[in-house]
Amino acid sequence: MDFGKINRVALKAAHHGAEVLMGKMGRLLEINKKGAIDLVTDADTASEKAIIATIQAAYPDHAILAEESGLSDGSSAFRWIIDPLDGTTNFAHSLGLFAVSIACARGNDIICGVVYNPVSEELFSAVKGKGAQLNGQTIRVSDTPDVGESLLVTGFPYNVGDILDEIMIRLSRCLAASQGVRRLGSAALDLCYLACGRFEGFWEQNLKPWDTAAGLLIAREAGARVTDFTDHEFTIDMPQLLATNGKIHHQMLDLISLEDGR
Ligand code: IPD
Ligand code: CA
Ligand code: CA
Repeated sequence: MDFGKINRVALKAAHHGAEVLMGKMGRLLEINKKGAIDLVTDADTASEKAIIATIQAAYPDHAILAEESGLSDGSSAFRWIIDPLDGTTNFAHSLGLFAVSIACARGNDIICGVVYNPVSEELFSAVKGKGAQLNGQTIRVSDTPDVGESLLVTGFPYNVGDILDEIMIRLSRCLAASQGVRRLGSAALDLCYLACGRFEGFWEQNLKPWDTAAGLLIAREAGARVTDFTDHEFTIDMPQLLATNGKIHHQMLDLISLEDGR
């Protein structure tokens, strides 16, 4: 199988999705709510349509899992996992921290990932076994050995109100132990910024496969360690994600594990 072609299709699809987003930034026609603070806009749906059309033109038999339209089965072992707009809340407020995120998996193995922020024009990509790139240049995680020297990032799920106490315990411990904690509002970019050494650690819970699939491969190909909160290898169906540069992983596990096992 030619992973090179899959990668080219992923890049083309990401550019098509991003073009739609840039055309709609600051001029949204519709902002609806999937939950109390979970937004969906006409930009999400139009970007997803453009991405899916590009993929299906090249691979009509591949399955597609996309945030807004769900799963459409295919007859091959390949499945595309798409977030047409990661960072919808930022986008709806004209804040340029958002991305298109597209991954392709064969069975459970993610083989290609692309995350593109058209505002910064930063394109993160990876093909399994071939390293990770930012705009064509190889990227690596940082080699900072200590959490006290680290910049961390986290995110809050849409059901934040239901689990506020555990979120605040983890946040306050990490704030006290590190150089700082950021909350950018795009999990795909959080993983990519870890991959290129801007952050040393990222944790979040209740993410969905489309939030993490592409960023996970990019981060791992750049040398990141990615597990759940109890140090099991992360897979995209898991509710907890801890990604680090590897060096601070055990320190981070200590900071975010709660005594009652949550
Ligand atoms: C969200 C972003 C955010 C994260 C949320 C995600 P969306 O995705 O990745 O950073 O904290 O949990 O749902 O809704 O903007 O695609
Ligand atoms: Ca998302
Ligand atoms: Ca989204």
